[in-house]
Amino acid sequence: MTKGGRSSPEGSPAPGKSDQPKVLVMAVDLSTRYLGLELSSPLVAGASPLTIDLDVLQRLQDAGAGAVVMPSLFAEQFERDEHLWTWLHEFQPEELPDLPQLYAQLKDYNQGPVQYLRLLEQARQRLSVPVIASINAQAPGDWTRFATWLEQAGADALELNIYYVPTRPEVSSQQVEQQYLEVVQQVRQATRLPLAVKIGPYFTSLPHFAAQLVASGAEALVLFNRYLEPDVNLEKMCIEPVLVLSSRHELRLPLRWISVLRDQLSADLAASSGVQQPEDVVKALAVGADVVMVVGHVLRHGPQALAELVEGLRRWLEEHETTLDELRGRLSMSRCGDPASLQRANYMQTVVSYRTS
Ligand SMILES: Cc1cc2nc3c(=O)[nH]c(=O)nc-3n(C[C@H](O)[C@H](O)[C@H](O)COP(=O)(O)O)c2cc1C
Repeated sequence: MTKGGRSSPEGSPAPGKSDQPKVLVMAVDLSTRYLGLELSSPLVAGASPLTIDLDVLQRLQDAGAGAVVMPSLFAEQFERDEHLWTWLHEFQPEELPDLPQLYAQLKDYNQGPVQYLRLLEQARQRLSVPVIASINAQAPGDWTRFATWLEQAGADALELNIYYVPTRPEVSSQQVEQQYLEVVQQVRQATRLPLAVKIGPYFTSLPHFAAQLVASGAEALVLFNRYLEPDVNLEKMCIEPVLVLSSRHELRLPLRWISVLRDQLSADLAASSGVQQPEDVVKALAVGADVVMVVGHVLRHGPQALAELVEGLRRWLEEHETTLDELRGRLSMSRCGDPASLQRANYMQTVVSYRTS
């Protein structure tokens, strides 16, 4: 069977039975390479509270997930020597929360580091699909040694979610980007695990920054992390965090940037945000995603929802008589007929052609 292509027809006549009618059942090949790993499908169960549960992980594998990403431990959960906090103090002193209180809250988040390592080990033994561990960090620090432990516990790869929200005018975009790069470089030095870096979309020149992340050691980029926007509670007159699951239109952002980056980066690309229908999976692959991650849809409807996406992708490829290889990247910026549609011309054209009813 060729990678991304159709297998040779199943049901070819058995020896001595060549007079039987030939039934050509074409099996669509969904096999995918991501981070140097062989995946049975490009659908990946993304990081969420679901993927900390062994039984759910098994069900996601049974549903056809090509890999699973465990939820992130926060770097702060295993950073006990206060090095990180000292560093943070220099960078953003008034944003530091009450340390003991935060440690207490973080201690058992996603079961805490020790149990997380145990679960990772068990998941590795139980599942046949790659298990990707995850760390959420915002600054370099001694915590990067934890990446070594993840490697020893059997992780197939590491997804590093870097989540930093600048709030002070004296912190420049260059400083922020440099901070991201230092995190990637430190983790790269700490482990030989294949490394994916998950970022948000808000960078001034994403292509430049993405290339620097890759030069710093990222072998894949996960586009994008969703920032959880806080809301204003008028009753209590305060700002409070609100978790709203994604909507389908949020896929547009990864679609644009994956299309732009596909042929300009020597890294794998994972689409993440707003995937709910098989067409969403097809679109993400068409712009050049190597894998498509699903979280909110599975949180809403359970692992079966992932099975439906896998089946829907299979059906789409069959109906369109094409292969995963032919589909992947067909609409990357350099190959799509109208690169301007990704740029300013599209904005002007869309705004100018809008008609009020
Ligand atoms: C409840 C919840 C928990 C999440 N936890 C993590 C996490 O631990 N690590 C991470 O990198 N992303 C985490 N995410 C972000 C998702 O992995 C994903 O990037 C985001 O939800 C967009 O994908 P979706 O539109 O399919 O939900 C979480 C999302 C939700 C809704």
